[in-house]
Amino acid sequence: MSNDANDQILLLDWYRHNKRDLPWRHSPEAYGVWISEVMLQQTTVQAVIPYYERFMARFPTLESLAKSPVESVLEHWAGLGYYSRARNLHKAARELARDGGFPKTHLELSKYPGFGPYTARAVSSIAFGEHAGIVDGNVVRVLSRRHGLKLEWWTPKGRAVLQEHADRLVARGDSSSTNQALMDLGATVCVPRAPRCLLCPWASVCAARKLGRQEEFPLARPRKEREIWIWRPRVLLSRGRVGLVANEYAPFLKGHLICPGRAERKNKAPKKFDFRHSVTCHDIFVILERENKKIPEKSITWVPLQKLKQAAPSSLLQKALKRVKELQ
Ligand code: ADE
Repeated sequence: MSNDANDQILLLDWYRHNKRDLPWRHSPEAYGVWISEVMLQQTTVQAVIPYYERFMARFPTLESLAKSPVESVLEHWAGLGYYSRARNLHKAARELARDGGFPKTHLELSKYPGFGPYTARAVSSIAFGEHAGIVDGNVVRVLSRRHGLKLEWWTPKGRAVLQEHADRLVARGDSSSTNQALMDLGATVCVPRAPRCLLCPWASVCAARKLGRQEEFPLARPRKEREIWIWRPRVLLSRGRVGLVANEYAPFLKGHLICPGRAERKNKAPKKFDFRHSVTCHDIFVILERENKKIPEKSITWVPLQKLKQAAPSSLLQKALKRVKELQ
């Protein structure tokens, strides 16, 4: 038996006993798989569950999503961020409904808006059993350890090697369960720090474990250089609501709802600022905009303050509001 076939048997046997009970696994039809996979690209399984359930209660079928106004889709997406994903979801739903539903291969699915290699392969393999491997962050780690791969997985070349390993593993048999098993194994056993190898179905075949160097795989992606930014938000407050816009102007919190304003890149930190905050590689110096210039009302979404945490959960925004209230 080939290594891949043997690995698949071990993995599927583990999955039968350790599969996570997730709402989108109850009836794995393409629509639910698609929605869950797009949501899972932004945050963790635990955080996605309530969003998924609310979304599916409001838009239970592809047709219902296709027929709904985009505003209502964005409202149900609020809090997940990356609004362009929700817009693409709606656009793709309309095209898929027009074409009579989901095609069954990742190549055909990739023609629709928002279907990158990950989403297209996830839908075609999980819902239709196509023999297409999925490579996400968890899979990169599990396969790199299993095969002892020290490659630059963030480059197209490195990615292609991992894709080949993933494809070989699902080349026959139940590719839907094999792909999901690999992701579950990465999320629960083959974790980044202190992996729980005693629970792993691949413990006896794992190259990294043989070396006793599990944590050295995969290679660490080089950190992006830190950037200094000045953010000048206009905090609009009116009758218990805060006025926000879809962020199309700042490189941090891309796609989130944030205050209207301006962002500028700098070489040096400013001397005067209201507060400072870091988001990924951005070191942000916040200077609250005190001028009262007019902002086109059409672009603003008014969010009640009680719903702010849900609609715009970033702590940068919460800090800006707190600071404005302190100054009032
Ligand atoms: N993470 C993203 N998609 C997943 C899936 N289908 N199963 C487990 N973890 C996942």
